[in-house]
Amino acid sequence: MNPSLAGKPFALTHTRPTRLTALLFGAPYYPEHWDPTDWERDARLMAEAGFNVVRMAEFAWDRMEPVEGRYDFSLFREVVALMGRHGVRSILCTPTATPPRWLTHAHPDVLRMMPDGRTCAHGARQHACYAGERYRAYSRAITQAMAEAFRDDPHVVGWQTDNEINCGFHECVCPNCQAEFRRFLAAKYGDIATLNAAWGTAFWAQTYQDWEQIDLPYEQRPQNENPSARLDYYRYLSHIAVRFQREQVAILRAANPDWFVMHNGMFDQIDYVEFNKDLDFFGYDNYPGFRNDDAASPADGAAATAARLDMARSFAGNVIIPEQQAGPGGQKHYLHDNPRPGQMRLWSYQSLAHGADGIMHFRWRTCRYGAEEYWCGLLDHDSVPRRRYAEAQQEGREFAALSAALLGTHVHIDVGILHSPEQDDAHRALPHGLPLPSAAAGHLHRALWKQAVAVGYVNPSDTLEGLRAVVWPHLPMCDAALAARLSAYVRGGGTLLIGGRSAIKDVHNHVISETPPGLLAELAGATVEEYGMRPERHFGLRLPDGAAAPALWYDLLQPTTAEVLGTWTGGHLDGGAAVTLNRYGAGRVLTVGTYLAPETASWVAALLMRHAGVHPLLAEVPAGVEATLRTGERGALLFLLNHDEVPHTVRGLPAGQNLLGAAPAGGVLQLAPWQVAIIAIEGQNAG
Ligand code: GAL
Repeated sequence: MNPSLAGKPFALTHTRPTRLTALLFGAPYYPEHWDPTDWERDARLMAEAGFNVVRMAEFAWDRMEPVEGRYDFSLFREVVALMGRHGVRSILCTPTATPPRWLTHAHPDVLRMMPDGRTCAHGARQHACYAGERYRAYSRAITQAMAEAFRDDPHVVGWQTDNEINCGFHECVCPNCQAEFRRFLAAKYGDIATLNAAWGTAFWAQTYQDWEQIDLPYEQRPQNENPSARLDYYRYLSHIAVRFQREQVAILRAANPDWFVMHNGMFDQIDYVEFNKDLDFFGYDNYPGFRNDDAASPADGAAATAARLDMARSFAGNVIIPEQQAGPGGQKHYLHDNPRPGQMRLWSYQSLAHGADGIMHFRWRTCRYGAEEYWCGLLDHDSVPRRRYAEAQQEGREFAALSAALLGTHVHIDVGILHSPEQDDAHRALPHGLPLPSAAAGHLHRALWKQAVAVGYVNPSDTLEGLRAVVWPHLPMCDAALAARLSAYVRGGGTLLIGGRSAIKDVHNHVISETPPGLLAELAGATVEEYGMRPERHFGLRLPDGAAAPALWYDLLQPTTAEVLGTWTGGHLDGGAAVTLNRYGAGRVLTVGTYLAPETASWVAALLMRHAGVHPLLAEVPAGVEATLRTGERGALLFLLNHDEVPHTVRGLPAGQNLLGAAPAGGVLQLAPWQVAIIAIEGQNAG
């Protein structure tokens, strides 16, 4: 089926499917890197692997506009048509991650300036700044020209804007940014006195009298910068990324409203909730090789990949994977290992298990030149189809058969961990050596994932409906609206878990004047009497089951209406309240006065499960086996993935058909190494 969009747009929420009419399957393809005599054979092999899409042109501005104003789309017209003849549709990209040399040579003012004041040189990618009007005008012009050239092409089904905005570099301090930052602040605050108050400029004589006096946070500035100003700079970086993309999306939508538009991520300093409002769906580029490099075992790497996939989905619902690792990835200083036979397919299924409605393997064939000579594609440099291509063929056959069952379903979660890039940025502005809230929360995600709990992330503006528990890891900022939503959630019967050092700041990154956790204090039924940090983890937590975990951070709690579940051990904290439970409305609030860390996470997971009535998807899962659930109006699909090089037996399975092989017998299924099963649960058949 021709992949396109069906039905009305859904509100952005973690339960939103993509609306695609067919599961996307394909690869990014770079015909400009290959001899035209290769194209026909490539298209045939793609069709034989069951591709329905290729993604092209994101780095080919120099081919499409070799001289300023002279457009030449002949190469892509030809390849789009050739692919179309083989039943493969095209997703085109705006090429704005790689402005051509004629542009940067004529207008060096479009180049990004690093925080130390050095201007980026031409010669790689992402060297242009999104802020300046000149670069934005050039970007709009190439987008417009491409949109017009392909507006009536029946084989072009959608677009990707740019490529991985903020990959590699987030910051820029060029003169355009300087002017734009001041405009951004003037629009936000209206008058300079309001900015002075919001930035707390009374500290160290920073008072500004005029917008023109405000500088960007250059690196040359003495250390100990203003954390409110730093947070606004991060917000500004997100603002220019959103605006840059928005201009392209408007052009594409005006040219052909039937196209879908997406972008691939995910990186820092982008408010992806705002960013995704302009897109039909988000794309997450999934490279498990990066997670596996540092992992103790493949299952450990899989846990990290699962968290990233869940995070990407939390911004708008189901995603597609525009780049799914196809082999070892290698750049100048590293080279990932080969996926084991079956492991590449397993990684693809893990993406589907976490809500992907499309898989595109990066890349079709390994390039013979350039910075990514060893970023391995489905085909090697010599074009000989080997085991990775055979695995892709298997995926192609299977995905075509699964498409109808999967589309329209979303990942079911019981526990939603609040995640917000802006909160991470607030922390980054003054971290005190503590890990990012999202990094600390990752330990809890992992502990729940290991036990096959349906865990995921939710953004603070998302619906909390249907969640058995919500976790506020260590998010520093809180406002009245968010506190009110959480309070309604708990009153309605939900369970909230508040981690240490939470809600200590207002939206300007100023410490609150109330006793922490401020706006959450009534919910918590406790306040923080004393707090501190012991890097050597001197203090411990005495837990209800007797175990004691070392703690990096301590909040000594003072219960008001809460009961004490756990106490501190060691030094002057000995016996003080560390963990409390407060009954509030029909729900309950657990407050755990420490930072989530590997030592505390599994205990916190158990505490949460016990009090929130959260049960794992399966009573017993072997270590290394992952379970997730996708549900929709037509039923429920239980994914089982063996991330281990040895076989495992999974027991206690619900009755149902395995869409990928033999059905479980008496609730038992054998999973070979790297194998996957998708059980369409009986009575809830999604197939
Ligand atoms: C992504 C990028 C691709 C390619 C790939 C492998 O970040 O979008 O263009 O560079 O990584 O490094």
